[in-house]
Amino acid sequence: MKNVGFIGWRGMVGSVLMQRMVEERDFDAIRPVFFSTSQHGQPAPTLGGQQGVLQDAYDLDTLRALDIVITCQGGDYTNEVYPKLRESGWQGYWIDAASSLRMSDDAIIILDPVNHGVIKQGLDNGVKTFIGGNCTVSLMLMSLGGLFANDLVEWVSVATYQAASGGGARHMRELLVQMGQLNAEVANELNDPASAILDIERKVTALTRSGSLPVDNFGVPLAGSLIPWIDKQLDNGQSREEWKGQAETNKILGTQRVIPVDGLCVRVGALRCHSQAFTIKLKKDVALPEIEQMLATHNDWVKVIPNDRDISMRELTPAAVTGTLSTPVGRLRKLNMGPQYLSAFTVGDQLLWGAAEPLRRMLRILL
Ligand code: HSE
Repeated sequence: MKNVGFIGWRGMVGSVLMQRMVEERDFDAIRPVFFSTSQHGQPAPTLGGQQGVLQDAYDLDTLRALDIVITCQGGDYTNEVYPKLRESGWQGYWIDAASSLRMSDDAIIILDPVNHGVIKQGLDNGVKTFIGGNCTVSLMLMSLGGLFANDLVEWVSVATYQAASGGGARHMRELLVQMGQLNAEVANELNDPASAILDIERKVTALTRSGSLPVDNFGVPLAGSLIPWIDKQLDNGQSREEWKGQAETNKILGTQRVIPVDGLCVRVGALRCHSQAFTIKLKKDVALPEIEQMLATHNDWVKVIPNDRDISMRELTPAAVTGTLSTPVGRLRKLNMGPQYLSAFTVGDQLLWGAAEPLRRMLRILL
């Protein structure tokens, strides 16, 4: 059995990974070693069936004894430890949720239902570094994979509706606290059917603008609002999240000619599901039933939602999809711009297919 080290297993993505590994009985197939950046020496979890102690995540000798490292610890840890580990001659497999190594030439971005061939070829060529993709990119490809697999996509324009969890656990808490404070501000009025809605709105807006809502993580209020910027600002006017769309999509697919992907990334008050609205220019006019068939048969998790009001409202929302591995795609129709222009709307759990699941499956591929 392979020795597999886990770093950052207690954080949000790490916890989802642990939960999925328990569900799939992955621990039966490995010898797990749990690490900590701050609490080594304390009891490790018994997920592998044995009680050990937490190892020091900065101890290169202990790391070097591993066949596989899986880290959800974040980019700073990767930047600090990965180069030293490789320089020391370690030949093991490094599986990482952080973005630091994603675009490096000797790393592959993992999303096996979409790029199993790229992963397999990488393994055959001796690639040892496998990085989870950006969540919006992975979720787009899980939902729209059928179009890319059939080489139908000329370009993609996207508007995202990204959940708080993409920022991290503290961001989720902040959103919920903001929601609670806004509600508390007008709780009495809400209980009084005779109160005027515009008075309620004025009080909510006043509190939103007062500077007293907690905004340490998002920088501005998100509850009752949205934030049309995610991640850093680049010199070309894109946000870094928007930049990733094209860069990572093409790397995941291993395209020979770049498929343009661009749009606007927006943070909304959803908890852990990212939604995305697409305008897709197809390379040729393909009938909608054929498109639906391609999409539906691409992988086991995508589900085509008929372009019907009731079904879309029931099944194509963060509320419906959260906590599941389903990556539905709906609102499929040809746009007024012409028969080669397709609209689509996708929803996916940002912590599952957007983060933890590709890592778990990469581990399985290596066993
Ligand atoms: N950057 C993403 C977001 C998260 O902020 O929603 C994960 O890729």
